[in-house]
Amino acid sequence: MNNKKSDEFNFYEAALVKRTELFKDCSNIVVGDGDLDADILFVGEAPGRNEDLTGVPFCGAAGKNLDKLLNSVGLKRKEIYIANILKCRPPENRDPLPEEIIVHTPWLLKQIREMRPKVVCSLGNYATKFFMALGKIEDMKKMPGITSLHGKVRDINMDGVRFRLIPLFHPAAIIYNRTKLTPLWEEDMEIVKKECLSSFERS
Ligand code: URA
Repeated sequence: MNNKKSDEFNFYEAALVKRTELFKDCSNIVVGDGDLDADILFVGEAPGRNEDLTGVPFCGAAGKNLDKLLNSVGLKRKEIYIANILKCRPPENRDPLPEEIIVHTPWLLKQIREMRPKVVCSLGNYATKFFMALGKIEDMKKMPGITSLHGKVRDINMDGVRFRLIPLFHPAAIIYNRTKLTPLWEEDMEIVKKECLSSFERS
C-alpha cells in the first residue's frame, strides 16, 4: 500500500505534513483507524515500521498489546478511534522533534474538530504533554510526565472542542514493564469507561 499520492489528502493540514522530511522518507501516511463516530479517541506518538508499511496505526507489537489491553476491559478497536501525534514514521523510530510536532498536529486537531470526541486518552508522554500544553509545543517540556499524570482526568478545550483528557501509559511501555503497569492501565481504563458513561448521560 502507498497512500502518499492519495487525492483525499488535498487539504491545508495535509499539505503541511507533505512538506516534511518525514513524509519524503515514509512509505505511508498513517491517518487513523476505527470509528470516527466514537466518543473515545486514543492518541499515540508516531507510526513504527509496521504502521509505516500498512498505513494502519498500532498494528505492530505495541498495537497487539493495545488490542489485548482494550479487550481486557471489554472494549474493541472498532469502538474507538485511534490516531497519532505524527502522521509519518520518524527514522529508526526516534522521538518526535518539536518542529515535526508543530507541522503534524494541525491534522490531528482537524480530526478532533471533525470527530468531537468526549474523551481523549493520550498514550504515553508525547501525546499527554501535547494536550496538557494545549497544543503549545514550546510548553510541552514543562509538563509533568505520564508516571505522575496517568489516570488523572482533566477538562480540556482545544480548538473549540471540549473533552475529558485521560493520560494512559503507552502500550509499548507496558510490554517492557508488564507486571507493574498492566494493573495500573486496567485501573485507569475503569476511569475511562466511567467518563464515557457519564458523558453519554450528559448528552
Ligand atoms: N506507537 C505509537 O505511538 N503509534 C503507533 O501507531 C504505533 C506504535
